Amino acid sequence: MKEGAWISSKKVYFQEPIKFWEEQAKELDWDTMWKLPYKEKLPYFKWFVGGKLNASMNCLDRHLETRLNKTALIWVPEPTKEKPIKITYKELHEKVNKFANLLKRLKVKKGDVVSIYLPMIPEVIISMLACSRIGAIHSVVFSAFSEEALQSRMKDGKSKVLITADGYFRKGKKVDLLKKVKKAVKGTKVKKVIVVPRLEKKVPKGFINYTKEIRKEKSFCKPKIMKSEDTLFILYTSGTTGKPKGVMRDTGGYLTQASTTSKFNFNLHENDIMWCTADVGWITGHTYSCYGPLSLGATLLIYEGSPDFPNFGRWWKIIQENKVNVFYTAPTAIRLFMKFGEKYLKKYNLNSLKILGTVGEPIDEDAWNWYFKKIGKSKLPLIDTWWQTETGANVINSLPGVGPFIPSYAGKPFPGIKMAIVNGKGNKVRVGKPGHLVQLSPFAPGMLQGVFRNKKRYKETYWSKFKNKYDTSDGAFMDKDGNIRLTGRIDDVIKVAGHRLSTAEMENALDDDDCVNEAAIVSVPDKIRGEVPVAFVVLEKGKPSDVLKKKLVNDVRVRIGPIASLKEIYFVDDLPKTRSGKIMRRILKSLLIGEKIKSTTTLVNPECVKKIEDGL
Ligand code: WTA
Repeated sequence: MKEGAWISSKKVYFQEPIKFWEEQAKELDWDTMWKLPYKEKLPYFKWFVGGKLNASMNCLDRHLETRLNKTALIWVPEPTKEKPIKITYKELHEKVNKFANLLKRLKVKKGDVVSIYLPMIPEVIISMLACSRIGAIHSVVFSAFSEEALQSRMKDGKSKVLITADGYFRKGKKVDLLKKVKKAVKGTKVKKVIVVPRLEKKVPKGFINYTKEIRKEKSFCKPKIMKSEDTLFILYTSGTTGKPKGVMRDTGGYLTQASTTSKFNFNLHENDIMWCTADVGWITGHTYSCYGPLSLGATLLIYEGSPDFPNFGRWWKIIQENKVNVFYTAPTAIRLFMKFGEKYLKKYNLNSLKILGTVGEPIDEDAWNWYFKKIGKSKLPLIDTWWQTETGANVINSLPGVGPFIPSYAGKPFPGIKMAIVNGKGNKVRVGKPGHLVQLSPFAPGMLQGVFRNKKRYKETYWSKFKNKYDTSDGAFMDKDGNIRLTGRIDDVIKVAGHRLSTAEMENALDDDDCVNEAAIVSVPDKIRGEVPVAFVVLEKGKPSDVLKKKLVNDVRVRIGPIASLKEIYFVDDLPKTRSGKIMRRILKSLLIGEKIKSTTTLVNPECVKKIEDGL
């Protein structure tokens, strides 16, 4: 679209969302144009019905004519002695095609789920695009998740193929992945494991050596033309119950919103280099470290390692050396740099930057101001983007060049998306009054299409509380100009350093210990990580001790991964419960943060509240 057209046709965009998205979708390459732009039979809806396209073609093939030798991907390895690797569109196309052919040789077909358990190396992008080339559904699992987390996701997805690596570098150390993989595949339907040798370890017997096999493949694979509503990928995310859910995403709608938001929110032009620091194991990485920038023919940067290796100047060094233009990260990272990294900043020239973004958790005013002043030199637009795994792409944020940029307010809904703040009955609340954030019809094209193999959960989680409104489970309020401020999750999901975790999943990990009778997890504010989990545990047997504490903390880390690190465990005699047996986590949280407890009359055991308070 021509520059400025957005502003001139603003009216259409705001008043007719379907037209807006149709216009945006036309920017993609379609094999067959759609007959109907939007169809809704709630809780289901479809975009671009009758339209056909392929995601990998949109990210690669269509750029070949004009951007053949342009860098598509810059990969920065963690060890400083290894040089960054630049991959052109031509090379990326070839790598993706070869990998797609290898998957075909392994009998992967359209609709099959392929699990990907890879660190931030080019092959993570290559394998996602290779799946999309042949119509396979990719299911990426964050490489820092535990073997149990990987296993449960592979089981739920019924994947027959897993793509992984022998390991990666993190904080200067080699992290092994194969040990976890060997355990995780047991008892699943996975028959083939493809191993990318990053650490040059020997590929175990029975596993497939990526480097060796890929050489045998031809450099073109005919793309599978998909219906717009065909599933592009699933991505597991935490909910209120213990089991993560496979959020399903279509092809045409998702790609449209991924591409459009990359373009408008980050003012991403084809000569720009975008660095989204999120791992591809999360939705932010899917959309802004892969599909969004590549669909626009821009250059994407990914970094393998930790922000503090070898010191807190590393990220700024990467920006300087690679002339990054768009930088997108999480408030936790900003707070980390505020605390430890300021002295390194002076050494680096960040003049290439033109847009800053943030995502994943509310950004507090201090972090906002620091980011704006120190990194943005008080002149760059700072885009605070609110969205979720379920929404697929950015939903609420201010636009560069439009604003307003108000610290701690995310902004307005993106053009073509209707959001509202409602009370428990689903009626809109007054300006300034907090309520539930919901999305209204027509639902945005990037929205989830369902929960993989679980229709009931899809309906119950998102569509049961409010009639015909998508429930985000976030709280928010709006100012008189329509700017939205998020107040955090209303359900039992917590965001630790921007990572989404389920308290129920952590509780299950504790409950499975023989010593534990029951457990409740709540979060407490944390200066760097936003919030962190703590546990209240009622023992079945044994006595409270530091050794037991350590063991329980470890149990949770092993079950989920190191991001699920309990800050503290409190051993108590009883947990506050309602008559129906629901544990009142809110009361526990109030006790921890010193908030006044409104009432304990609904509890069957109000006496335990005082006891816990005294104990604390
Ligand atoms: C929270 C991440 C405040 C929110 C893309 C949401 C935010 C959850 C913001 C989704 C933001 C995300 N301001 N809160 N800018 N962005 N959140 O699925 O609670 O990992 O529901 O997707 O993160 O987390 P998820």
